Amino acid sequence: MKILVTGGAGFIGSNFVHYVIDHTPHEVTVLDKLTYAGNLASLEGLPAHRFRFVKGDIQDAALVDELFGAHDAAVHYAAESHNDNSLENPRPFLDTNIIGTYTLLEAARKHDMRFHHISTDEVYGDLELDDPAKFTETTAYNPSSPYSSTKASSDLLVRAWVRSFGVKATISNCSNNYGPYQHVEKFIPRQITNVLRGERPKLYGTGENVRDWIHANDHSSAVLTILDKGAIGETYLIGADGERNNRDVVELILTQLGQPSDAYDHVVDRLGHDLRYAIDSTRLRTELGWKPTFSDFEAGLADTIAWYRDNEAWWAPQKDLTEARYAAQGQ
Ligand code: NAD
Ligand code: DAU
Repeated sequence: MKILVTGGAGFIGSNFVHYVIDHTPHEVTVLDKLTYAGNLASLEGLPAHRFRFVKGDIQDAALVDELFGAHDAAVHYAAESHNDNSLENPRPFLDTNIIGTYTLLEAARKHDMRFHHISTDEVYGDLELDDPAKFTETTAYNPSSPYSSTKASSDLLVRAWVRSFGVKATISNCSNNYGPYQHVEKFIPRQITNVLRGERPKLYGTGENVRDWIHANDHSSAVLTILDKGAIGETYLIGADGERNNRDVVELILTQLGQPSDAYDHVVDRLGHDLRYAIDSTRLRTELGWKPTFSDFEAGLADTIAWYRDNEAWWAPQKDLTEARYAAQGQ
């Protein structure tokens, strides 16, 4: 199979590309605009006879049409992905996440192409800290931020193109990913690289907010499972029962790096900051037989810390710019 992966130079997309090359005989083409978040260094070492990179925008209908005509399936990761950026300047989120997805769906319709849409648990809004409930495939959409509302919009477009035009699409909504190659703007890499540079971690607000962490490799194995066995038109939630509050994660990072566990600062809270995400992935596990392999978050975090320690050349070019943007917002 020839798979087109949009956003394959980003954190999760590049993980999926490596995962597919390592675990299947498929060929992969990446379509990526190389925004500030895309990094070709994340795609090094792939075999030239099974991998190709195309620089381009998913809103470029002519380019998308040409690429869809030459592939068997598309897996759509490309997005503006960072909540804080969406609060500062929402427009690129509307362009890429909504118009970009629309552009791909029109090509999928024309070429009758298998299409898998990567989305987020944030489309469901948030849960109370003491709520025993978790998100399921039938939870009502209730996004909070410009980012999550554009992802919700893109999900609804996919559903409409399935129902109205018979596009052969599936959707997955995953919780927070961690692992190597994540941009230093995101929570875990920001705190790890702060400590490695002798800076204190920065916790938004009280730090009681809960995220449901999953290793990026487990996200990739789930997406491949859905591409292979998922029922057309259906949605699958991806999660690995990894709920932790942000304060605990920061304390764990500090401890693993040999620092006092209270050596962090509280900074200005995120506007509209979602309190808690939690995924019930029963459907994916029971209907498609998927299960995560990274069940030990502390071990996965230790591996991730070791990767950032050993790969400063990958993240250092982005670090100063990212911190300058945060400093301007008091974060
Ligand atoms: P990322 O920001 O690391 O990477 C996004 C990639 O998309 C970059 O390589 C960028 O260059 C590319 N891109 C952006 N705009 C583009 C455009 N117009 N045309 C072509 N390429 C473009 O993001 P990520 O964290 O890897 O997230 C990937 C996808 O997974 C997103 O759709 C996101 O909503 C979803 N997701 C992320 C998480 C998470 O924890 N990071 C969890 C669930 C779902
Ligand atoms: O839930 C899935 C989503 O997870 C994805 O859809 C998004 O693309 C991805 O960015 C992520 O969104 P979050 O907003 O949850 O991730 P972020 O890494 O930005 O923040 C995680 C938590 O940490 C959140 O509660 C905010 C907090 N935070 C973040 C930063 C950058 C801090 O306390 N300090 C920080 O410096």
